[in-house]
Amino acid sequence: MFIPMLAINHLRCEYKVNPIGLDVKSPRLSWQLQSDQRNCVQSAYQIQLSLTDCHEQTVWDSGKVISDQSIHVELAGWEPQARTRYYYRIRVWDAAEEQSAWSAAAFFEMGLMDSKNAWQADWITSRPDEHDTACPRLRTTFELKQEVTCARIYVTALGLYELHLNNKRVGQDYFTPGWTSYGKRLQYRVYDVTDLLQAGGNILGAYLGDGWYKGHLGWKKEKRIFGDQAALLLELHVHYADGTVETLLSDGDWKTASSAICMSDIYMGETYDARLETDWTDNTSTRWSPVDVLEYTKDIIVAQENVPVTRVQELEPIALITTPQGDRVLDMGQNMVGWVKFNIEGEQGHTVELRHAEILDHEGNFYTENLRGAAQSIRYTLKGEGVESYEPHFTFQGFRYVKLIGFAESINLDDFRGVVLHSDMERTSDFQCSSPLVNQLHHNILWGQKGNFLDVPTDCPQRDERLGWTGDAQMFIRTASYLMNTGPFFTKWLRDLQADQGEDGGIPFFVPDLRSSTSEGWGDTSHSSAAWGDAAVICPWTIYEMYGDVRLLAEQYDSMKRWVHYIHEQGNNPYLWNTGFHFGDWLGLDSKPDSYIGATDKDFVATAFYAYSVSLVRKVAAVLGQGEDEAYYAKLHDHIVTAFREEFVTPAGKLAVPTQTAHVLALHFELLDAKARQRAIDQLGKLVADAGNHLTTGFVGTPYLNPVLSETGHHDLAYTLLFQEDYPSWLYQVTKGATTVWEHWDGIKEDGSLWSADMNSFNHYAYGAIGEWLYRYVAGIRSDEKSPGFHVVHIEPQPGPGLDWVEASLDTMYGRVGSSWYRRKNNEMEVHVTIPANVTGTVVLPGVSLQTVMEGGLPLHKVPHLQGVQTKESHVKIDLGSGSYHFTYKCVEESEPVTIK
Ligand code: BGC
Repeated sequence: MFIPMLAINHLRCEYKVNPIGLDVKSPRLSWQLQSDQRNCVQSAYQIQLSLTDCHEQTVWDSGKVISDQSIHVELAGWEPQARTRYYYRIRVWDAAEEQSAWSAAAFFEMGLMDSKNAWQADWITSRPDEHDTACPRLRTTFELKQEVTCARIYVTALGLYELHLNNKRVGQDYFTPGWTSYGKRLQYRVYDVTDLLQAGGNILGAYLGDGWYKGHLGWKKEKRIFGDQAALLLELHVHYADGTVETLLSDGDWKTASSAICMSDIYMGETYDARLETDWTDNTSTRWSPVDVLEYTKDIIVAQENVPVTRVQELEPIALITTPQGDRVLDMGQNMVGWVKFNIEGEQGHTVELRHAEILDHEGNFYTENLRGAAQSIRYTLKGEGVESYEPHFTFQGFRYVKLIGFAESINLDDFRGVVLHSDMERTSDFQCSSPLVNQLHHNILWGQKGNFLDVPTDCPQRDERLGWTGDAQMFIRTASYLMNTGPFFTKWLRDLQADQGEDGGIPFFVPDLRSSTSEGWGDTSHSSAAWGDAAVICPWTIYEMYGDVRLLAEQYDSMKRWVHYIHEQGNNPYLWNTGFHFGDWLGLDSKPDSYIGATDKDFVATAFYAYSVSLVRKVAAVLGQGEDEAYYAKLHDHIVTAFREEFVTPAGKLAVPTQTAHVLALHFELLDAKARQRAIDQLGKLVADAGNHLTTGFVGTPYLNPVLSETGHHDLAYTLLFQEDYPSWLYQVTKGATTVWEHWDGIKEDGSLWSADMNSFNHYAYGAIGEWLYRYVAGIRSDEKSPGFHVVHIEPQPGPGLDWVEASLDTMYGRVGSSWYRRKNNEMEVHVTIPANVTGTVVLPGVSLQTVMEGGLPLHKVPHLQGVQTKESHVKIDLGSGSYHFTYKCVEESEPVTIK
C-alpha cells in the first residue's frame, strides 16, 4: 500500500471514534501522524469544523496553530451547540514545513448539553407491585408526518433498559444506562434511529430490568439499594425534510404490559418463559394498561461518559463433560464473563436450566460454593415452535463451566456460544515471549480485565459481590491502562468516586457506594482504608501519565486534596496515619492463622500510602500550576517522611517492620534516606531468599514487588519470582490450569482442595498487576511523567534469566510503540524499537559496550542523528526520534569492563 509521506489518521474526540451524545463544553480532539521518515515531529496543525462531512460550510477554523500538541487539543474559543453534529478534519505541518493532506472527516455530536433543564419527558413506570420480579414492557405508537432526515433517541432509566423500535433492538450496547450512584448521577444515552423509523405507523418500546438499581447487590442479600421503582425517561426527536422537528416524549399516554422475562437479576440470573412472548405490535387490549408517571428528579442526569458495554466476542465450548456425579457440563475453555446463548428445540412448556461455575472441584464435579448467594442460573421455558434461540437480557455470569439441566439426551456443541461482554475499551497492547507459561499468565491478566471491567472496575464477576472495590482498581489500573485504553472508563468511575466521597473527604470501600441508601447503614468504619481510598489520587495520576489527560487531573484535583486532608485529620499526629480500620496488606501470606490481613503493620501501610498520595498531589499541583499548593504539599510530604522514619526506621537505618511488603512500600514510595535505603534493598533480597525465593506479599505489596526488585539491582530475583511454578507464585495457578487470575495464591491447593468457599474467586485481577512489570521492565516500555501520554517514551528492555525473546507493543495516544528483544547465539542481542511520529524518546540497551552497537547493519556513529552514550551500568543510552530501529550488539560478559568516555 502506498503511504503518503505525512498523513493524519486515528481521529478521536474525547478518546472516542465519532461519539454521539457528548455534553462537554470544549470537546478535545486527538490524532496520530503517520510518516515514512524518521524523526517526524509536528510543528503546526489546523482544525476545521463543519456541519457537513464534505466541509462545504466551515463553522470554525483554528487557522494554522504553531504547536506540537496532537492529543487532547481543545477547540479554544468555540462553543458547541446542543444536539448538533460537527464534522472535523485536520492537517499538520512537520518540522521541515511539509504539509499533510487534510485527514478524512470524522465527527462528534453534542448531546443535550444542559441535561438538568433540557428534559421535557416524564419518568414513566409500570404500575407498582404488579410485576415485582418480572421485567415490564413500556410502549407507545406514533405516526410520522413526512420524510425524515434524521432522528435521535435520548434515553435513560432507573434500572436497565433495552429499547426496541419497530421490532428491532436499538443500539449495540448492554447494561444501559450503566452503573453510577444513582441518587447522585445517572447517565443518558443517545441513539441515531433514523434508519429504524418507517413511513406511517411506528412502535417504540422498552423492557425494564432491575439491574444494579433495584436487584440484589452486595453480600448482605439486599435488594432495592438505590430505589424500588424501575422507570424510563425518553425523548425521540424527529427532524423532517421541511426543517421542522417533532418530539415524542415518555409520558402518561404510554402503555405497559408484562413480558416473557419473568425474573432478571445481575447475580441471580434470568427466568424466561417463551410462551409469554408477544411481539411489540400485539394489540390485545387487556394486556396493555396505562403507565404511571413517576416523580423523580432529572437534576442528576449526565451524558454517557464511559464507552458502552458491548458483546465483544463469542467462544465455542471446547467439550461436553459428564462429571462423576453425572452432571452434563459444557466447558467453555476459558473463565469468561457474559452469558451463554443457545438454540433449543422441544415441547411447549418444557423448562431447561443453565447453571454457571468457574471451576470443577478436585473430583471433577461442578462447583458453585464460591459463588455464595449468586445463583447464576438461567431458566428457559420453551414455546415449542421449532428451533428457539435465547440469550439473557439483564444479567451476567462469571463462568467457565455450564451445567445443563433438562436438555435432550444428545447435545450439539454448536447450539451453544459463550457471549463475552465488557466495556468496549480499545485493546492497546500485545506481549509475547519465549515462555508459554508467561504468555498464559499475560492471557489470564487480560481476561481478568475483560471479566471485571463491566462499566465499573469490579473485584470479581461471579459471587454476590462484583463491586467497584477502590483498592483493587488502584492496584490494577496501570496494568489495565497498558492492556486497553481506559481513559473514558476511569473518567466516568472517578466522577462516581468523587460523587460518593464523604463530606469529610473519606472514600468508600467501593464505588458506586452502597452505604448511603441501605436501610441499616454500614456504620462509620466502612470507608477510607489506606491503599483503598488512595484510589482517589493514584487513579487520576495514572490516567494522566498514560494518556496525558490534564483535564481529568484538574477535575479530580479537589477530590484528591480532600482525601489527603481527610487523612491529615485522623488521629492525633497529622503526619502519621495510625488510627481507623484498614485492610492492610490484604491476603498477605505472612498473616496470622485465620486472618485475611498480612503481617505488615497497618499503621506502616497507612502512613506509607499517606506519604505517597501527598507526593502525587504535590506533582498534580505542579502540573496544574498551583504553586502555593505545590509548596504546601512538598512541606507536608517532608513532615510525613520524617514522622515515618522516626516511627518505622531504627536510628541505625533498619526498617522496624520486617516484611517483604514493608520493604517494597518504603522503597517504592521513596521514604528512606540513602543509608536506610541500601539496607532495605539488601534486606528485601534476603527476605525473598529466606522465603525460598518466593513472595509473601498480599494485595498491597504484590503490585510493586517486581518493579522494586528491578529498580534496586535485584532484577534477576524478579525473574526468579516470575518463573517460580510452585506455590506461592504467579505461575503456580497457570500450571493448575487457570485462565484468569485468582484471588488467592492458592485458590486451588497443591492437593486439589480449595480455599474456603466464603472468599475464593478465580477471576480477581489484583495480582494481575504484574502485567505492568512485563510491559515496563521486561519489554521496557516506559512513559515519562514530564511528557505524559508517551509524548516522550523510554524504551529500556531488561532481559533476565529464563527468557530468550520478548515482542511487545503499546498503542499510545500518539501511535504504536514497539519494543522487542532477542537473545541470539554467542551473546548477540537484537533489539527492535518503534517510536511513533511526533514522539521522541530514548532507548537504553543493557549490557553493552558502545563500540559494538550496530543499527540497521551500520555502526552507530555512521547512522544519521543517532548518538549513543555509555552509562556506568554498562548500558548504552541513545536518543531517538520517531521511526523503527533495529539494533544488534554483543553483550558484555559479566567480568568485561566497560570504558566510559
Ligand atoms: C474483595 C476485594 C476487596 C476486599 C477488601 C473482598 O471481598 O473481593 O477484592 O478489596 O474484600 O479487602
